[in-house]
Amino acid sequence: MSAYHICAQEEQMTKKFYLTTPIYYPSDNLHIGHTYCTVAADAIKRFKTLQGYEVQFVTGTDEHGQKIQEKAQEIGLEPKEYVDRIVADTRKLWDTLDINFDTFVRSTDEDHEKNVQDLFMKLYEKDEIYKGEYEGYYCTPCESFWAESQLLEGHACPDCGRETKLSKEESYFFRLSKYRDRLLQYYEDHPEFIQPAYRKSEMINSFLKDGLQDLSVTRSSFKWGVPVPFDDEHIVYVWIDALSCYLTGIGLGTDEEKFKEYWPADVHLVGKEIMRFHTIIWPALLMALDIPLPKKVFGHGWILFDEDKMSKSKGNIIYPDPIIELYGVDALKYFLLREFSFGHDGSFNVTSFIKRLNSDLANDLGNLVSRTVSMLEKYSDGVILQPGESTDLDKELQAMATNIWKENEEAMENYQFSVVLDDIWKLVRRTNKYVDENEPWILAKEEDSTRLNTVLYHLAESLRIVSILLSPFMPHTALEIRDQLGVKTEIDWEDAKVWGKLEVGSKVEKKGIIFPRLDVEEEAERLWASNQALIDERLAAKAELAKSMGLVEEGQEEFKEEISIDDFAKMDIRVAVIESVEDHPNADRLYVLKIKMGSEKRVICSGIKENYTKEELVGKKILVLANLKPVKLRGVESQGMLLAAEDAEGKLSLATTMEEVLDNAKIS
Ligand code: MSP
Repeated sequence: MSAYHICAQEEQMTKKFYLTTPIYYPSDNLHIGHTYCTVAADAIKRFKTLQGYEVQFVTGTDEHGQKIQEKAQEIGLEPKEYVDRIVADTRKLWDTLDINFDTFVRSTDEDHEKNVQDLFMKLYEKDEIYKGEYEGYYCTPCESFWAESQLLEGHACPDCGRETKLSKEESYFFRLSKYRDRLLQYYEDHPEFIQPAYRKSEMINSFLKDGLQDLSVTRSSFKWGVPVPFDDEHIVYVWIDALSCYLTGIGLGTDEEKFKEYWPADVHLVGKEIMRFHTIIWPALLMALDIPLPKKVFGHGWILFDEDKMSKSKGNIIYPDPIIELYGVDALKYFLLREFSFGHDGSFNVTSFIKRLNSDLANDLGNLVSRTVSMLEKYSDGVILQPGESTDLDKELQAMATNIWKENEEAMENYQFSVVLDDIWKLVRRTNKYVDENEPWILAKEEDSTRLNTVLYHLAESLRIVSILLSPFMPHTALEIRDQLGVKTEIDWEDAKVWGKLEVGSKVEKKGIIFPRLDVEEEAERLWASNQALIDERLAAKAELAKSMGLVEEGQEEFKEEISIDDFAKMDIRVAVIESVEDHPNADRLYVLKIKMGSEKRVICSGIKENYTKEELVGKKILVLANLKPVKLRGVESQGMLLAAEDAEGKLSLATTMEEVLDNAKIS
């Protein structure tokens, strides 16, 4: 076959693109941080499709595990019944957000469970998995085993600082250790595999540098999981189960043709905290299974709330629902993709949200659509008329408008959504400036309408191009703009590359303001209040459910064994005042508090970071167990323990006294 024929054949074959989001824990309580990755994946799918790729986008839910089993038990349901209920909420949210996924894999789907068993069996037969015994320190809240060398002083969990228990469990192990060198080599040969590139050094330095340990891949302490095919006592532990959803979702075991066409995945989009699973465990498993590796794993940052991690128990959470209800799906998508740089952490703040809506959507885009259509209606009966000869100014606008697609394609290679949107907005702003430069209201007074028609044509034509460029990120808005401009054709990427596609004679029609101007303070308050109302509503519904199941009778919980007054007298509990709070240098979830009890000053490390901001803590009087033996927590000595109440929902509240007392007062 000649080179020409090979080329022609390749050109005819449509390019395939396979992308995934993580496989989410099912939830009826997803916040905007959770929507970030899925909104981004949706934009990538739409962008690639527009470029002419055949795209498969897989998402789903990761439904097994001890936590799910326990939550189901708490409300008296079978785990499957429980996940069936909440997975419906996850799916509903993706529907509301108009997420254009192709396959939704549930890890409890029959074909997936069969895949997990087949893959496990294959690994076992290849001696990649062996049976052994796991002895380690188990942290129940984190569901993690730790080696003694990894623990903090006092056998505390390195993740959450809570006490761990020494446990022994029979388990199957995956020979992860033998893949260290191959993984390092792979990273070197495929520099695009881990993105953004700085995450690669994180993986190497934190996990690979000092060698890898074999990985425990089964559990026998709970039942809610896929059974090991040849050993009923064990279930396959969640990571093999969850990760292999990426294979099930593209046809493994059910549609081999599709699987061959699309695997390996072009990109797995994941949050930064699960990069280790996707760039170490997942590729090693695939190597062991002789399955090609995904081409790219992109680790995005977290969306914080006012600089803090979102947490249900603390109530500092922003839900997508009120945002969508008040401002629409596209406003949320625009903000998520424009405000934050994909890869880095960013902080959501109600006021900055409203400000951006006002400046970019109402003042720039909304205003351009509104004034263009209004002027066309006013000066030419809504009809697009033949433009005259172009001036230099016109040519400059034409050149800019027909070049943005290139910049967009370049930025989308690295999923830099904020750059893409910023570039589109350069055109929007330039077009608004073009209105002011040409003053159509003055041109309208001239007898010869050629210049007026030319200017109006340029405005509408620029907006036509904007509508195409915008369509992957704000699909509804793109259609609304086209509708008002009277553009009847399907959105086509090629049409963003050429000037003059807007048909002379077509008719525009004003159909309302696409993004109204907002009063920043008033709106910020309105959004805040609706979000708060939803938080309260969800908490109340949960409490109601627990009550209706008879689960929250007072005194129902078992008390600890009796102690004598002498035992109690051994505890030296005092009032202390918090003087300063800093982040722990080596543990993400801990604060380092400086406290004062009379003339005594102490340092205490505490895991209350998810529950209180630093500002909330400084100056507060709290209760401290002062004679607890000091322990070193990740390199910082903690001299005492502060006291807090934790309710059944996991909400923490620091203990204090009813009336103001001097610090160092003793509790007896
Ligand atoms: N089930 C695992 C993933 C298994 S993938 C084979 C899991 N699920 S999750 O529901 O906890 O998280 C889903 C995704 O949401 C993760 O990528 C996580 O990083 C992301 N986010 C959760 N909170 C987030 C923010 N506040 N901001 C951005 N993304 C965050 O992990």
